[in-house]
Amino acid sequence: MSSNNSRPVIEGMRQEYNTNSLCQRAAVKLSVDYIRQAIDVLEIENLPIIIIGDYGSSHGSNSVYAIQFIIEALKETKKFDENKQQIFVVHNDLPTNDWASLFEVLAKNRSYHGVASGRSFYEQCLPSNSLAFGYTSISLHWLSTKPCNISDQCLVHSSRNESEINEFRQKAALDYAHFLEYRSRELVPGGVLVLVILANSEKDNRDHADLLYRCAQELLSPQELLDYTLPIYCRSYSECVDRDLFEKFGLELVKADAINVKSDLGEKLRNGEITLDYLAQVQTAAVRAACEYPLKQALISNKQRSTEEIVKILDQYWDLHEKGMKEQSYDFNTDMMVIDLVLKKKINK
Ligand SMILES: C[S@@+](CC[C@H](N)C(=O)[O-])C[C@H]1O[C@@H](n2cnc3c(N)ncnc32)[C@H](O)[C@@H]1O
Repeated sequence: MSSNNSRPVIEGMRQEYNTNSLCQRAAVKLSVDYIRQAIDVLEIENLPIIIIGDYGSSHGSNSVYAIQFIIEALKETKKFDENKQQIFVVHNDLPTNDWASLFEVLAKNRSYHGVASGRSFYEQCLPSNSLAFGYTSISLHWLSTKPCNISDQCLVHSSRNESEINEFRQKAALDYAHFLEYRSRELVPGGVLVLVILANSEKDNRDHADLLYRCAQELLSPQELLDYTLPIYCRSYSECVDRDLFEKFGLELVKADAINVKSDLGEKLRNGEITLDYLAQVQTAAVRAACEYPLKQALISNKQRSTEEIVKILDQYWDLHEKGMKEQSYDFNTDMMVIDLVLKKKINK
């Protein structure tokens, strides 16, 4: 039995995201070579205003880090002429994002003019032919809507239900096509996109997904458990590197790689620099900051629980998660697989 649910599926990250997103920061740091390669092929000499967009900026700390790197690289490579051109940055995320946190980060960092765009990146967010440099990191695995509930797991990657997996696969393909179509419209000819996409690394996803589901089985009613389906799909390399789609939207593939983003936590644990308890605590806080909303939503939408009960269940859930990680941590790979892509909008489209 799977029920369809087409309302927006996440509000954004939990409040503590900025301090619990080191893993995502590592992916941003590893994208700098791709940013440089994108700038090498960028052709924007005649633009008076260079618009840079970050899609899925969340609470801002990693986003500002990426933007500052892009601006520095534009200056170093002289692709940006400070006497003739200006830089304007758009931080995009869902309307329900914690924008106050992002504005706080922007207020502390006054090195560029940054504004917010609160609109789904699966729609057009900027005027056509305006964007020079589009960037996104660890955001495209969040689907626009949940295509169906998953009946045997909470994450599609560990499900064995072929028809449900297929619905997720199709939704992810459609969302990706929309993302590329709208970014292509927004880009000026000669403009570029750098995409850092969380990839499907089968074994790691399955271990963690199993733990997320086991914890939910202990606390949720059958209907809540069914509704607790994360609207996430981690794409494979071939799903990301789709030359027909690039061609259709006038985009040229400059570079694509699958990259292992190493987490230093695993290494520190092996060297005895941190304890297993600490690793489980840090990892749980990170997963909670990024993924709590769908669980909360499953509890709220079933209207069976008081607000106090929901708060209690959420705490219990993450306690169980931390305990489960401690028991299994030797098995957990704390690294992350990503696909990094550089695309350029063709000049003679
Ligand atoms: C894991 S965070 C990554 C944030 C940041 N790029 C980083 O590297 O830390 C994913 C972000 O994507 C946003 N997001 C998810 N779906 C979105 C959509 N359809 N439109 C805009 N933002 C979206 C979420 O709200 C969240 O802030």
